[in-house]
Amino acid sequence: MTAAVIEIRTQPPSLLAYGLVLRPWDLDLARQMGEWQCRGFPYHAFDMDHLKDIARAEATVVRMREDLQHRHFVATQGDTAVGRASVNLKDDAGLYLWSVHVPPEHEGRGVCRRMLAGIMLWLEQVYPQRDFVLSSNTFATHAHRAYYALGFHIAETRWHFDRDLAERMWKVSGAERELVSRHMRFQNGRWEVRTHIMQREHGAPMDVREPLWARRD
Ligand SMILES: CC(C)(COP(=O)(O)OP(=O)(O)OC[C@H]1O[C@@H](n2cnc3c(N)ncnc32)[C@H](O)[C@@H]1OP(=O)(O)O)[C@@H](O)C(=O)NCCC(=O)NCCS
Repeated sequence: MTAAVIEIRTQPPSLLAYGLVLRPWDLDLARQMGEWQCRGFPYHAFDMDHLKDIARAEATVVRMREDLQHRHFVATQGDTAVGRASVNLKDDAGLYLWSVHVPPEHEGRGVCRRMLAGIMLWLEQVYPQRDFVLSSNTFATHAHRAYYALGFHIAETRWHFDRDLAERMWKVSGAERELVSRHMRFQNGRWEVRTHIMQREHGAPMDVREPLWARRD
């Protein structure tokens, strides 16, 4: 498949990539994201229920569009919001991808791979000297498969204090806690999560398979 990424000159730009259009946030997309299925613990931080509140959705859209340090994209298929991702342009460690999120109803169709590939190909044109970085909790195995396919490797694994996740650990059921038991430790009076720091060098090869469903239209 050709790596066609075309920048549409809006500010921030929209990108055409691998059958997806990566668009800046707007109110309609925020409204759709508010309806996305939630995953709950331990992925609760990605849930978008708060966008059901129109005032919060409006404020979030303004914030996302005015943010000079980050670019925030919503991946769309036709008019449907199918994923989102952000990049911090100013982190010393590199172009820092974060908030990589595909809701359950759109997962397993290569949305994550295709949207990140599109964002990175665009960034490689705009910032030819810079490499990529992201961090990922070690329980996020689906995400890691996509990241490896896109040329990321683990640079470091460390224990990290995530306040929100740590607070949830006190509230969840034993079964939920068991789900992440290999990835959490109780150390110095607080819960910590094991986290991979992953890097990708500029221009590293990417395997972006086009799923059958994307070829239909
Ligand atoms: C991780 C996430 C972004 C993946 O999105 P996606 O669009 O489904 O990803 P892709 O389709 O590109 O596939 C990624 C890998 O996960 C696998 N996968 C995705 N959903 C799956 C499912 N329900 N069951 C089994 N495997 C699944 C895919 O098969 C693929 O692996 P492969 O390439 O070896 O076949 C999405 O599951 C998500 O938002 N999870 C919660 C938030 C999160 O973990 N974000 C990343 C934080 S660093």
